[in-house]
Amino acid sequence: MCGIVGYIGEQQAAPILLEGLSKLEYRGYDSAGIAVYDGNEIKMVKSRGKLKVLEELTQGGMTLPGCVGIGHTRWATHGSPSDINAHPHFNKNHTIAVVHNGIIENYMKLRKKLEKKGYVFVSETDTEVLVHLLDYYYNGNPLETITKVMYRLEGSYALGIMFKDHPEEVYAVRKDSPLIVGKSEAGNFIASDVPAVLKHTRDVYFIDNQEMVKLTKDSLTFYNIDEEEISVEPTHIEWDITAAEKGGYEYFMLKEIYEQPKAVADTLNPRLKNNDIVIEELGMTDEEIRNIKKIFIIGCGSAYHTGVTAKYVIEGLARIPVEVDLASEFRYRNPIFEPGTLVIVISQSGETADTLAALREAKANGVKTLGIVNVVGSSIAREADAVMYTWAGPEIAVATTKAYSTQLIAEYLLAMKFARVRDVLSQEEMEGMIEDLKKLPEQIEFLLGNKEKIQHFANRYLATEHVFFIGRGIDYAISLEGSLKLKEISYIHSEAYAAGELKHGTISLIEEDTLVTAVITQKELYKKTLSNVQEVRTRGAFVLAVTNTGNTEVEKSADYVIYLPETNKYFTNSLAVIPLQLFSYYVSLGKGLDVDKPRNLAKSVTVE
Ligand code: G6P
Repeated sequence: MCGIVGYIGEQQAAPILLEGLSKLEYRGYDSAGIAVYDGNEIKMVKSRGKLKVLEELTQGGMTLPGCVGIGHTRWATHGSPSDINAHPHFNKNHTIAVVHNGIIENYMKLRKKLEKKGYVFVSETDTEVLVHLLDYYYNGNPLETITKVMYRLEGSYALGIMFKDHPEEVYAVRKDSPLIVGKSEAGNFIASDVPAVLKHTRDVYFIDNQEMVKLTKDSLTFYNIDEEEISVEPTHIEWDITAAEKGGYEYFMLKEIYEQPKAVADTLNPRLKNNDIVIEELGMTDEEIRNIKKIFIIGCGSAYHTGVTAKYVIEGLARIPVEVDLASEFRYRNPIFEPGTLVIVISQSGETADTLAALREAKANGVKTLGIVNVVGSSIAREADAVMYTWAGPEIAVATTKAYSTQLIAEYLLAMKFARVRDVLSQEEMEGMIEDLKKLPEQIEFLLGNKEKIQHFANRYLATEHVFFIGRGIDYAISLEGSLKLKEISYIHSEAYAAGELKHGTISLIEEDTLVTAVITQKELYKKTLSNVQEVRTRGAFVLAVTNTGNTEVEKSADYVIYLPETNKYFTNSLAVIPLQLFSYYVSLGKGLDVDKPRNLAKSVTVE
């Protein structure tokens, strides 16, 4: 969702801002704008549509001189996508410019107050109240003004702010929305995410909630909400800019699909030591692990789906009861926290607003929390009691692939660790499972090698309107993900059903040629799911089956079969997901859609 960049330094700001914004496109947006101080005044250009429009309007930024500026990509919340609603926003005299990511929840109240004082609003956005409030309180001292405004805001915000009469400074502040600061020889930066500054620097600063930063071209000063200076340590980013670039692939999504063998190995290998699973970052003694009575797993979207898989794996292996919750539900359902509860929150970005709120709810109730997070230094990573990083590297495509796969690995490791410590898994069994885990990267590689077969199949389904995914147990969990992937990027209506539930409604939707994808990897459930396959085929469905090598029985019932290499029954989702990802990708590609940036979706959902 909305992306922010800001720059102050020796070079012309506008091209740098445009370039930075292009690295944030993945977050999802529908309009974009920049504001630059040209030595006399703050000039602003903004427009509905893709960054390309803004680049054309400013000739790649060249028509906007000046070395200080802020920029924004907007994902509409309050007010439709339009030129007027696009950021930055100005106060009445155009002496203050603001870009904002987040939602000001009390904006209506503030707007009414400001209107009574004579302020005229030109946009429908919540952001515009910010700039008029800044104007209202402005006393020549930006820090004092910003803090006064912060005290009046409810909701979430990351802000980039410029004041015309402090032209050598840029200010930024955040609460519950991401914002990073970058420092380089050629100037300093703010951004919503690291890729926007990586070309210029690897030294970034993560600021905490309600902290502020003042940037000049050669200094950074950090403050708390009491305007006291604080020190913030830089983090050196290890990964390379090429990790955030397409590297010859047509879309980031395909590149990220292909990065899965490495991402899985990187997440797995550091935690395997001498036939044992070592998760130091868990910060739990064996005694504490033995005392876990219940686990909540919480996430949104695909992260939630890995949680559904984890429920089967943890309950099956470690015999600990697990409840999986959508974060948006969990935070408002008044859950019961008993002693011995462990809350695991899962998030690629570490910034998803609902997941963060669920984490806080758990912490407020005094239970132990663990984040499984991909983005280092993100809010969830910093706020959870313990963080287990997935080492997927930067993920740019809106639809997650490699982060999903690494989340599964983290969850398998946890389940096995818990099971071993609680003595419900023998050392020998665990070692056997470790061997299976180690094979996953090359098995994924093998499945990726067969992409043409799936591409061919996908091309037959470009015009289809409905697709159903069915499975039982862990196969149901992967069906949820297969269905989400397809609808996210192909705009085809799809639904996932627990195969046994079909008869209670969904089967009425099956018609001649309806595509049903059946995942059949759990030996003890083969026959059951195959009966469901028969039921839909009798009603005209075309069935694509994903099953284990050797299960040729399926060929009698399904129309098209994809075989997966042999693995432990708990790890099959790591393999089954590959053909499902490729299927969605090729349908989207075949339909000529923007695979990486599907309409209306955002990579990082930082508002509720
Ligand atoms: C968005 C993304 C999904 C992702 C979900 C949760 O909807 O498009 O791919 O699964 O958010 O994001 P998180 O960063 O918390 O994993």
